[in-house]
Amino acid sequence: MIVCVCNNVSEQKIRHAVDSGMSSMRELRQKLGVADSCGKCHSCAKNVLRECLENNVPTAHRHLHALVFQPMPSIATAV
Ligand code: FES
Repeated sequence: MIVCVCNNVSEQKIRHAVDSGMSSMRELRQKLGVADSCGKCHSCAKNVLRECLENNVPTAHRHLHALVFQPMPSIATAV
């Protein structure tokens, strides 16, 4: 599927970019030109990027992330 029509960037190209180490929209914009023209693809590209990053994180790290980023209890309920 083409994500960015202006710059002919496919979902596959974004996946390869993430596999090669890119991890932000800034990098995708600089290296592939995603969302660099009309910008209409920005949210779609961001969703593809997020999905790729989530799928690339090893399972152990996902569990660690879940543990580290637990919401803090509010002061009212903690006291
Ligand atoms: S569709 Fe991506 S910049 Fe226009």
